[in-house]
Amino acid sequence: MVLPFKKIKSKIKTTILHSEIIHFKSIDSTNKYLLDKHSHPNGTVVLADFQTAGRGRRQRIWQSPEAESLLFSIFLNENIQTIPLYLLTFLAAVSVYEGLLPFIPQKHIALKWPNDVLINGKKVCGILVETKTSANRINSIVIGIGINVNQNSEFFKGELKNASSLFCSKGCKFSRMEVLSSVLVSIDKNLMELQQCVYTDFLAKWRNYCPYLGKKIKVDDGKNIYKGTFKDISQNGGLILETNGKEKIFHAADVSIVKENRNL
Ligand code: BTN
Repeated sequence: MVLPFKKIKSKIKTTILHSEIIHFKSIDSTNKYLLDKHSHPNGTVVLADFQTAGRGRRQRIWQSPEAESLLFSIFLNENIQTIPLYLLTFLAAVSVYEGLLPFIPQKHIALKWPNDVLINGKKVCGILVETKTSANRINSIVIGIGINVNQNSEFFKGELKNASSLFCSKGCKFSRMEVLSSVLVSIDKNLMELQQCVYTDFLAKWRNYCPYLGKKIKVDDGKNIYKGTFKDISQNGGLILETNGKEKIFHAADVSIVKENRNL
């Protein structure tokens, strides 16, 4: 089914990403839309006010009430293959972090492995990078980003109790377009940087924005739960956990922070 959409001409100045955004009132998933079609121009951006089947990491669903959050995806074609896939995940998280700086004081924002963005310890943004392959070759990459902007605290109940929105954190409503523009400009700048292969600086940025390095964490890989110290990220983006005197590397898992009791 072809859903109605309009193109929004935003004022942002970008090099790789398109300044013209494809905007749907409602769609199943912006990631799915970009992956289903054969091809799109490199840097295509799709935004939706509502998703009926929003996809989250590890087969979860991503839900949000209509027009209160940012739900968007970016299409990158095979030209981007020079950039390792794991780095694109980190790129998206770093870019959202930097894109939120005009709105939220830096001391309140944090990155959590692999690509969650937290404000005051609660998740406000999730990122899902998906690829389309044929003959064992990646043809295209879609970076899907969901940012909780104006939802009120009523929304964050039950299984969403560890999540929050910019509104809940700051106590005022935000213009979704302003937040989107800031994040897109930041993604564009970081993509340019990555294309010029400044990889080490880039991972250093990620480490800088993650206050949990060296801290006690809990890692759930779907089979077991491990407790230990978050040592570092490996060369290909894995989480290095020191547990029972050994180092273990994870490539897909959920991480939670263990609150340390200072009175002990
Ligand atoms: C996560 O589980 O943390 C990742 C969530 C990613 C959600 C975004 S919303 C826009 C894009 N379209 C989707 O279906 N998912 C991503």
